[in-house]
Amino acid sequence: MTKVAVWCRHEGDNIIGIGSHIPWRISSDFKRFRRITEGRTLVAGQTTYESFPGRTLPDRKICVLTLNPKYEVSDPQKHFVVNDIDVFREGEDELYIAGGASVYKAFLTGGAGLMPEIIVDSMYAGMINPELSGKIIDITPCIDVMKSSYRQISETYEKDNVFTSVWVLKGEFIDQAVLKHIIEAIEAED
Ligand SMILES: NC(=O)c1ccc[n+]([C@@H]2O[C@H](COP(=O)([O-])OP(=O)(O)OC[C@H]3O[C@@H](n4cnc5c(N)ncnc54)[C@H](OP(=O)(O)O)[C@@H]3O)[C@@H](O)[C@H]2O)c1
Repeated sequence: MTKVAVWCRHEGDNIIGIGSHIPWRISSDFKRFRRITEGRTLVAGQTTYESFPGRTLPDRKICVLTLNPKYEVSDPQKHFVVNDIDVFREGEDELYIAGGASVYKAFLTGGAGLMPEIIVDSMYAGMINPELSGKIIDITPCIDVMKSSYRQISETYEKDNVFTSVWVLKGEFIDQAVLKHIIEAIEAED
């Protein structure tokens, strides 16, 4: 299974959320995320899943990580409850890791079988919405792992003050077809 972590963090402090919200709204970043993940399977933590409008994302399967075995998803045909992250250690398909912070961390520090082979690292260099209140959520531990265990293999693309680059896990076989799909999705016009 090729696993791909996709995030957009804030430059300097690595913030990805305040409370349950992403504290910026960049349409081209959402579109890039959609192009990368459309038709694919995602995994999201319960908090992030609840933050999706209508608790869904069109044209994608979603695995919702929660310790609650009775958790009810919005679309049982396409969304699945997963109580044990270890189920992702085996498998043949692509899996896109869509956050939030606890889920990125669980995969990046999870060792063999969980560490994503590919990271799509987007970094927003603009203002954070000052009106939001709530817990500040950052992914600094994940960025530390990325910088020590991954190497950047793409150029850095800029759009609307978001800087995106692709990183691969050092010493791992990387599925070139998955990589090609991701680069094409980043380079595509909105
Ligand atoms: N900027 C971005 O790219 C981006 C992307 C995604 C999310 N976000 C933001 O990130 C924030 C949410 O992050 P978060 O860390 O607070 O929450 P989260 O990771 O979305 O969800 C946390 C929940 O997921 C479940 N979970 C996590 N790890 C698990 C494991 N190993 N096994 C079973 N269940 C597990 C637990 O659910 P239960 O409590 O139900 O057991 C946990 O409470 C929000 O602000 C969101 O908007 C930002």
